[in-house]
Amino acid sequence: MFEMIASPVKVAHLLMGNKIGPGATVIDATVGNGYDTLFLAEAVGVVGRVYGFDIQAEAIENTKLRLLKEGLLERVLLFHEGHENLAHRVTENIDGIMFNLGYLPGGDHRVITKPSTTIMALEGALKLLKPGGLATVVVYPGHEGGADEAQALDEYVAHLPKNAYSCVKITFVNRSRRSPYVLAIEKAQ
Ligand SMILES: C[S@@+](CC[C@H](N)C(=O)[O-])C[C@H]1O[C@@H](n2cnc3c(N)ncnc32)[C@H](O)[C@@H]1O
Repeated sequence: MFEMIASPVKVAHLLMGNKIGPGATVIDATVGNGYDTLFLAEAVGVVGRVYGFDIQAEAIENTKLRLLKEGLLERVLLFHEGHENLAHRVTENIDGIMFNLGYLPGGDHRVITKPSTTIMALEGALKLLKPGGLATVVVYPGHEGGADEAQALDEYVAHLPKNAYSCVKITFVNRSRRSPYVLAIEKAQ
């Protein structure tokens, strides 16, 4: 059966799904409505662990309800806190981390991820990544403030040392130049 790559989120799931499996330890840096958290919770299995962060109580609640409905809440530790603090909360090494930037769909569109805190979180996460581990970032340049965040991230990722990280940018070339895209950063073995 063919699987369509219709969205950047799907691309991020395909990349991460190829990397992690039962027993993995992962972070969802922006839980939002919980779709990525659910994907991660399913992938890590009963002995795996997912850490999730969001600054909005509504997002934490939505994610908790989604996980409860699927019986997967016990695999996930949720923090109502900015991902810039993840290095204080997660003390074990991780196999993967997903960022899905921008605003909460269905929520307050003025509450958005910011370049400085996103990069602080990514920097902390890269230190926690195990050799061969993967970070994915779905980037949204289209909303107000999104282009600045996209530019800051592109620059940050472009300057990561090439012997330590493989970095790719996946864009939909037949869509608007401001359409969402994926950055993927794999730590060297
Ligand atoms: C596009 S949504 C995430 C979608 C989510 N992954 C899903 O599957 O539904 C972006 C989320 O980032 C959150 N956010 C903004 N700044 C943040 C920060 N500093 N730390 C953690 N989350 C943040 C927003 O509250 C919002 O819920």
